[in-house]
Amino acid sequence: MTVSFTRLDPVGEDHDALVEFMTRNEFPFHGRPHPRAADVETAIRDGAYRDEDNDSFWIDHRELGRIGFLRLEDLSDDAPLFDLRLDAPFRGRGLGADVLKAATDHVFRTLADVQRFEGQTREDNLAMRRTFVRCGWLKEAHYREAWPVDGGAPLASVAYGILRRDWETGRTTPLLWDDLPA
Ligand SMILES: CC(C)(COP(=O)(O)OP(=O)(O)OC[C@H]1O[C@@H](n2cnc3c(N)ncnc32)[C@H](O)[C@@H]1OP(=O)(O)O)[C@@H](O)C(=O)NCCC(=O)NCCS
Repeated sequence: MTVSFTRLDPVGEDHDALVEFMTRNEFPFHGRPHPRAADVETAIRDGAYRDEDNDSFWIDHRELGRIGFLRLEDLSDDAPLFDLRLDAPFRGRGLGADVLKAATDHVFRTLADVQRFEGQTREDNLAMRRTFVRCGWLKEAHYREAWPVDGGAPLASVAYGILRRDWETGRTTPLLWDDLPA
């Protein structure tokens, strides 16, 4: 496996590196594109990086070393979500697909009760949306004007998902969008 995950300790030995990673990078498609150290510190204290719902990992690449950060969210729900953030030098190289495939493997292998894995992104995050499609995830919802944008009009939030059986078989179960009888 080219990509592996190292569980990080947000309040212990990984605290400073986590704050540094979040503040030195720009995340143009997140609610906070430039997190301040104080915001990250507060989120750490609130359990956003590790509690019963959240768990966080460094993303390690066999040749490239540490390439980013992954958080699994809603873990008590049996349908977890994720937050994937590559370090800036490792974006735009197709690595997101390797990471998403590895994250999907990790979730379905380690969480026996989980039948679906979900992700949401802003409509203009084309790199993330193409990454979902490349990895066999299916678009399941398009929430119009659901994503507030500072100083601009709200954008859509687009939801993708993968089923355990799709992961097992390598075949995406199709969705019949217009399923209401005429
Ligand atoms: C989003 C992210 C994970 C994508 O991973 P990546 O490896 O950088 O993705 P790439 O830029 O290589 O692009 C993936 C695909 O999108 C396409 N793409 C990228 N930008 C595009 C654009 N502006 N228009 C059209 N297609 C685009 C690429 O051509 C590639 O297509 P392919 O799969 O057909 O080859 C990564 O860029 C990242 O971490 N960004 C910052 C944090 C973030 O936005 N995370 C998502 C939160 S859920």
